[in-house]
Amino acid sequence: MAKEIRLNAFEMNCVGHGTHGLWVHPENTRHRYTELAYWIELARLLERGLFDALFIADVIGTYDVYKGSRDTAVREALQIPNNDPFLVVPAMAAVTEHLAFACTFSTTYEPPFPHARRMSTLDHLTNGRVGWNVVTSYLPNAAANFGLDGMVKHDERYAIADEFMEVCYKLWEGSWEDEAVVRDRERGVYADPAKVHEIAHVGKYFRVLGPHLSEPSPQRTPVIYQAGTSARGREFAARHAEAVFVGGGNVEGVRESIADIRRQAAALGRDPQHVKMFPSCQIIVGRTRAEADAKRAEIQRLLSVEGMLAHYAGSSGFDLSRYQPEEYLEYRDTDHGQTSARRYTQGKRRTAREVIEAIGKLGDGTLFFTCGTPEEVADTLERWIDETGADGFNLSQHLTPRTFADVIDLLVPELQRRGRYRTSYPPGPYRERLLGPGQARLPTGHPGAVYRRAAAVAVA
Ligand SMILES: Cc1cc2nc3c(=O)[nH]c(=O)nc-3n(C[C@H](O)[C@H](O)[C@H](O)COP(=O)(O)O)c2cc1C
Repeated sequence: MAKEIRLNAFEMNCVGHGTHGLWVHPENTRHRYTELAYWIELARLLERGLFDALFIADVIGTYDVYKGSRDTAVREALQIPNNDPFLVVPAMAAVTEHLAFACTFSTTYEPPFPHARRMSTLDHLTNGRVGWNVVTSYLPNAAANFGLDGMVKHDERYAIADEFMEVCYKLWEGSWEDEAVVRDRERGVYADPAKVHEIAHVGKYFRVLGPHLSEPSPQRTPVIYQAGTSARGREFAARHAEAVFVGGGNVEGVRESIADIRRQAAALGRDPQHVKMFPSCQIIVGRTRAEADAKRAEIQRLLSVEGMLAHYAGSSGFDLSRYQPEEYLEYRDTDHGQTSARRYTQGKRRTAREVIEAIGKLGDGTLFFTCGTPEEVADTLERWIDETGADGFNLSQHLTPRTFADVIDLLVPELQRRGRYRTSYPPGPYRERLLGPGQARLPTGHPGAVYRRAAAVAVA
């Protein structure tokens, strides 16, 4: 049977997320991101469209690499101002029943103990509908905000991330036994002290005694997402991720990334199908080809090349303002994001002028882009899913709420007609929706599962 296509909405608690310059469009409501009503309306819309999850990106520094200044970022609202992704979730959870929320949090600068508690709190409040997008941060300004003299080196960030995960797993999976909470009113015992454990973690980067302050939540460990596809990033994904936001704009590249991560996951003893894959995707859909093309032209007209260049400089480390137009861009390891650094430096050599032209063009080939009628877009999505082994898409917005509303009103019915999209939500927590009934907790084979008490006793 043909695989159902899942959709996640790619969002951020800010004005300019990934396609810059568009906030000025009269229909774009992104400047309302400071209002609770904005998030409530968005969550209701996505649940009406039977989306799997709302994925909220985040950064903890500003983009100040381009021209050695943050001015472009501030002027264009490029991820600054930028509010906290976690704090909008409870309001959205209160008005939805199924939609999941995957929030981004970096393992590089803040310690694991309070983060683990925040995630447990959200997992309780959402009744098991949270995920965590684990990032390691690529902006030098973030390091300065947390008291460091410079960026932590790329691969060391992943080493910190590995230990951060270990601490979290110990807190979520190992600290409280399933039977610890007894709520015995007769005896006045809420929890059995013998079944609540310190974790006594002592490692290279963290020392955490415990116990975890939260009692076990529906999923215990939130669904783990990851998005970096450097060699080290893939290794991290293969070990920890239950869902991966795969970058890359052509079928071959995405298929290769997916196959590689799944191969590495299998080598680590995990079920490779327990790693769900969501390539980034931009969709412009219209009732007719002419309507879709007109929407595309309107968005292209507003797209800010300066904003896109400032974004690219921060995420890749390549400041194109410092290049001569005919100078070639050559790959070099940067301590920014290596996925971004590779974006225009793999395959055919390109000059700075060619890269700038590509960056300023919608659908520049670095992520999946499709524009057309519902039938045309559905054909393309089906092909991408079938040819890459992906499970769905991480859908970026151009205009809020129009991008998502168009997909829900025009594309989703077409996919449903083809049996390629759910017609109702299955019950249960987020992880069950990804892995199947009865699988609310981390599956055996996942590195976090070894910290479960029952598992530890069985091994002893
Ligand atoms: C779809 C997608 C979404 C991402 N979202 C974020 C984010 O919200 N915050 C962040 O700091 N990094 C984000 N990243 C960057 C990665 O998580 C990663 O930190 C970066 O690519 C550097 O890792 P790498 O060198 O392994 O590519 C995202 C990457 C992709 C492909």
